[in-house]
Amino acid sequence: MDQAILIQWFLVGPKIGVKLGPPDDIFNESRNLVEGYGYPFESHEVISGSGYILTLHRIPHGIKRKHWKALNRPVALFQHGLIAASDAFLFKGPDFDLPYIMADAGYDVWMSNMRGNVYSRKHKTMDSDTDPEYWDFSLHEIGVQDYPAIFDYILNKTEQNDLYFLGHSVGSTAGFILCSVMPEYNNKIKLHLSLAPLVYVNHSIPLSQKILIFPGLSITEAAMANGIYNFFPRRALFSRMLQMICRNGMPLQRICLYAVFTVVGQENTQFNTSYFPSCFEYFPAGTSMFLMQHTLQLYIKGDFAPFDYGNETHNMQKYNKSVPVPYNLSMVTHPVSLHYGLGDILVTEEDINITEMKLPNCLGKNKVPYEYFNHMDFMWGTATKELLYDNLITIMDKYR
Ligand SMILES: *[C@@H]1O[C@H](CO)[C@@H](O)[C@H](O)[C@H]1NC(C)=O
Ligand SMILES: *[C@@H]1O[C@H](CO)[C@@H](O)[C@H](O)[C@H]1NC(C)=O
Ligand SMILES: *[C@@H]1O[C@H](CO)[C@@H](O)[C@H](O)[C@H]1NC(C)=O
Ligand SMILES: *[C@@H]1O[C@H](CO)[C@@H](O)[C@H](O)[C@H]1NC(C)=O
Ligand SMILES: *[C@@H]1O[C@H](CO)[C@@H](O)[C@H](O)[C@H]1NC(C)=O
Ligand SMILES: *[C@@H]1O[C@H](CO)[C@@H](O)[C@H](O)[C@H]1NC(C)=O
Ligand SMILES: *[C@@H]1O[C@H](CO)[C@@H](O)[C@H](O)[C@H]1NC(C)=O
Ligand SMILES: *[C@@H]1O[C@H](CO)[C@@H](O)[C@H](O)[C@H]1NC(C)=O
Repeated sequence: MDQAILIQWFLVGPKIGVKLGPPDDIFNESRNLVEGYGYPFESHEVISGSGYILTLHRIPHGIKRKHWKALNRPVALFQHGLIAASDAFLFKGPDFDLPYIMADAGYDVWMSNMRGNVYSRKHKTMDSDTDPEYWDFSLHEIGVQDYPAIFDYILNKTEQNDLYFLGHSVGSTAGFILCSVMPEYNNKIKLHLSLAPLVYVNHSIPLSQKILIFPGLSITEAAMANGIYNFFPRRALFSRMLQMICRNGMPLQRICLYAVFTVVGQENTQFNTSYFPSCFEYFPAGTSMFLMQHTLQLYIKGDFAPFDYGNETHNMQKYNKSVPVPYNLSMVTHPVSLHYGLGDILVTEEDINITEMKLPNCLGKNKVPYEYFNHMDFMWGTATKELLYDNLITIMDKYR
């Protein structure tokens, strides 16, 4: 097999026109996890303004304290980060994962799946396997098209006026995009718990990351030139390969660890290598090349702005501007609680300080009380419940 084909099939996914789709059994993975742990589970479909069909997962109530079932539970919406899906936050179970912890604390928990990931690949008119136009979106559309539809749907279903919004990484970023462009959504967010958000990511980038970021752009360009628009879709073959290489007892596990920590930050005791097989079962879940490029652009420009296609016609179609105008964070007037880790090299304290300064209604900036806490620990740290999640619940409870 030549190298290009190898990359295509194992890494970035099929070319447009090759009809593979995700296998059917994948669609029930979140359900199987949640029901497997004995929690109630619901799946909902929302049609966003531009015809994308998005899947929301819901844990309507916890099981540890049954009486809460009767109450009018406040709604908490959790949004995953880059190339993930809801299930990345579900596989470790009720003693570790935030959605179960929130449900048991009395919240009605909803989890959104970004368009283009394994659960949200449908569209009213386009086919994600065959239409390149399907993949023409960045974080901007997630924020201004999908989030409004998701918020409206949930608030309607639950008959509530506002919700707690929790976002990890770019999931939180899109929340800031939403309210800077459509400030009328500010009053639908009771409180935004923002976990390591990429907003102003303007820290000096270490060489190890520069090596990833700059070629990242040309690799995604090359992929699109070859008709590949789906970035790291969930592929059984890719998962099995990484599970084999990275699991405990394999001599090459060190390489996996090195690769992971080069991207997310300081290696520490929060990652249990026994998680590797599950991590690769439920991560990655796919996104668009443009969304990936948008993320890289946030670092390269150090500014919080819509994705610049580098093509005036394309920018014009998207934004009615030949060059996109940066988002105005002073429009984001809902209360925000920022959370960050000192071991995180993707979003540093320096970045958080800039974001805090630009936010008109920041309740606080919370350093996770563990020196080496990195970007991935927000999802998979062994003690993240004690270090972070319990604190999030305390903040939410106070802010009823
Ligand atoms: C997923 O679960 C639902 C509800 O249990 C079931 O109706 C559906 O057939 C399942 N789909 C697959 C592909 O297993
Ligand atoms: C929810 O939407 C339906 C259909 O649009 C509408 O009839 C209903 O009044 C809405 N409910 C609430 C609580 O907004
Ligand atoms: C890692 O996870 C395995 C399997 O759940 C468990 O047996 C082990 O004690 C954990 N190790 C640490 C250091 O937490
Ligand atoms: C990013 O940092 C550089 C150097 O510290 C500074 O000149 C620039 O103005 C910053 N950009 C933003 C958008 O804050
Ligand atoms: C610029 O964008 C337009 C509209 O998306 C497209 O038709 C055109 O081919 C693009 N031009 C270049 C040079 O990529
Ligand atoms: C596009 O921008 C022009 C000039 O800035 C404005 O007149 C026009 O109404 C805008 N069109 C849309 C659809 O927003
Ligand atoms: C951002 O919004 C604020 C509040 O509406 C406004 O005062 C300020 O001029 C805006 N800044 C820019 C650069 O548009
Ligand atoms: C961020 O701000 C805090 C004060 O709020 C300050 O103590 C800290 O040194 C700042 N960190 C950086 C990296 O600028």
